[in-house]
Amino acid sequence: MSMKFQDYEKYLSPALSKTTDLVVESGKGCYVTDVNGDVYLDFVQGIAVNAFGHSYPKIVDAMKAQLDKLTDASFNLVNYPTTLKFAERLAETTPGDLNCVFFSNSGGEACDAALKLARAYTERPCIIAFRGSFHGRTLGATSVTASSSKYRKHYEPLVGGVHFAPYPSPYRWGYAERQVDPETCAAEALGEIQKIFDYLAAPEDVAAVIIEPVMGEGGYIVPPTSFMKGLRELCTKHGILLIFDEVQSGYGRTGKMWASEHFGVVPDIMTSGKAIAGGFPMSAIISTREIMSKWLPGMHGSTFGGHPVAAAAALAVLDAMKEEGIPENVNKMGEYLRGRLTELQRKFPVMGDVRGLGLMTAVEFIHPEDRRPNGEAFSKLRKYALDNKLLLLGCGVYGNGLRFATPLNVTKEELDKGLAIIESGLGEL
Ligand SMILES: Cc1ncc(COP(=O)(O)O)c(C=O)c1O
Repeated sequence: MSMKFQDYEKYLSPALSKTTDLVVESGKGCYVTDVNGDVYLDFVQGIAVNAFGHSYPKIVDAMKAQLDKLTDASFNLVNYPTTLKFAERLAETTPGDLNCVFFSNSGGEACDAALKLARAYTERPCIIAFRGSFHGRTLGATSVTASSSKYRKHYEPLVGGVHFAPYPSPYRWGYAERQVDPETCAAEALGEIQKIFDYLAAPEDVAAVIIEPVMGEGGYIVPPTSFMKGLRELCTKHGILLIFDEVQSGYGRTGKMWASEHFGVVPDIMTSGKAIAGGFPMSAIISTREIMSKWLPGMHGSTFGGHPVAAAAALAVLDAMKEEGIPENVNKMGEYLRGRLTELQRKFPVMGDVRGLGLMTAVEFIHPEDRRPNGEAFSKLRKYALDNKLLLLGCGVYGNGLRFATPLNVTKEELDKGLAIIESGLGEL
C-alpha cells in the first residue's frame, strides 16, 4: 500500500508534533515496517510502551481471546475475570501495603487521579512537584508538569496550590546548573523543600509531593538515594502523601519492577501506565486500602478504565516478564548499553553524560568547551539515524538528550546494530 503522510496532514491537529512522516504499517519485536516496505530498528517503541516489542505473540493472543468473548461492559458497572485477576497480580508486585488499585487509561489520567486522591485523603490544598518533571497533559497533570514551559503556555491559571522544587539532578543542579556530587545535591534539594515550607506553603497545607523516582521526559535522571529517603522522612513527619509517578520508570525498565525499589522507599500512592498492557492503553494508581477508602463511590471514575481487553494484555505482560527473564535481561543489557556508550563517550566529547538504571538509559549532549546543552547535536544524530533506518527518542528540557526506550527483552545484537548506526552518526556531526 502506498500512502503519504503529507496527503492527510491537513486533517490532523498541529499539536501532533511528529518527528517523522513515516506511515508505519506493521511491527514485530524491535522492528517496524512502513507502507513502502522499509524496515526500521525501533528504539522508541511507542515511547516505552511496548514492554516486549511490537505485537508480542502471547499478548496479541490474549487480547484476541478476550475480544472473542467480550469487548466491554464498563468496569464501573460489572466485573471481568481478566481485570479482577490483574488487580490481584498487580497488587502482588507493589511494595509495602500498596495493594488497592484504581484503573484508568493514560498516564496523565493516573496522575490526575493521584492528586485528587491525595487531596481527598488529607483534605489539604497544596502539592509540591519538581522542575523538569513530566506527568502528562490533562489539566491536573499539566499543573504539576515543568519539563518545558511550552506544555503550560496559555493554560494558566492551572490547578492552584502547586509549588515547584528543583529536581535533584547532580549533573545540572538547580537553575545555576552546577555539576555537584550526589550528596551535596541531595542535601541542597531537601533544603529547597524546606524553603517551600518556610516561604510558600506551610507543611500542614500540603497534601502531596509528586515525583518521578527516575525522571523520564526530563532526561532520565537518577536522584540520589539519600534524597529519596530524606523526602520520605519529610513527608511522613508532616503527614504529606508521597506520590511516585512510575508511568515510565516502572514495570522493569530500571532493572527492578518498580524504580522505588532501588531506593528502598515506599510511596503512599503510585501511578503506572505505558508498558503496563504491553502497548495497549491502560493505567492505574495503587495505594493503601486506608487511603483509597477516602474515595466514596463516584468520587472518581472512568468509562473505559479497567477495560477487559487491556487487562488481558496486562496479564500476558506479567506472564512474559517471567518467560523473558525480566529483570535479569534488563540489568544485563542495560549494563552492556551503558558500557558501550561510555566507550563512545571517550571518543566523542559531545556526549557529556551517560546515565541511567537498567534499560532506562540516556546520553546528554553538550558543547564540550563549556558544557552548554547541545540540542543541535541530538537533532542531527536523530536525522542521521532515521536516514539509516533507526528510530531514536529525545529527552531533556533542552532537547539535548537521547533516551533508549527499547523493549525489555532487547538483545545484544539489536543493541549492537543500533549502536553501530549511532557511532557512525556521531562521526558525521
Ligand atoms: C512519568 C510520566 N508520567 C505521565 C506521563 C503521561 O502519560 P500519558 O501520555 O499516557 O498521559 C508520562 C508520559 O510520557 C510520563 O513519562
